[in-house]
Amino acid sequence: MLGRVNHIAIAVPDLAAAVKAYRDGFRASVSAPQVLPEHGVTVVFVDAPNTRIELLEPYGEASPIAAFLERNPSGGLHHICYDVEDLVDARDRLTAMGARVLGNGEPKIGAHGNPVLFLHPKDFQGTLIELEEVPPSAENM
Ligand code: CO
Repeated sequence: MLGRVNHIAIAVPDLAAAVKAYRDGFRASVSAPQVLPEHGVTVVFVDAPNTRIELLEPYGEASPIAAFLERNPSGGLHHICYDVEDLVDARDRLTAMGARVLGNGEPKIGAHGNPVLFLHPKDFQGTLIELEEVPPSAENM
């Protein structure tokens, strides 16, 4: 059921500064910023040879990462995202074991155009987990 690490996400207070650090400092390939109003964030993806790093900046009044950045003003590791083949199947199994899904429990469309959902960190060793449904044919992208 558990697939690849899709990305590791870092919440940042200043996306432009973070992009500069990765692009100029690490000479990494960084995507154009993408505003995701439904998720309350602006994101870019940094390509690493074996995964991607998602840099998240708050967007809008009720951004879900605003409180995190208040506690971590210079930014910090925010979540890890795993691929799954069948998101609803994974959700149903995990919730049957007592795990909590954030929000209304229904998948939303994430930055890659695939359904995603988030699992409560208190149910997973203090780590916020995102699951992204990636069709098997897309796994080597
Ligand atoms: Co993410």
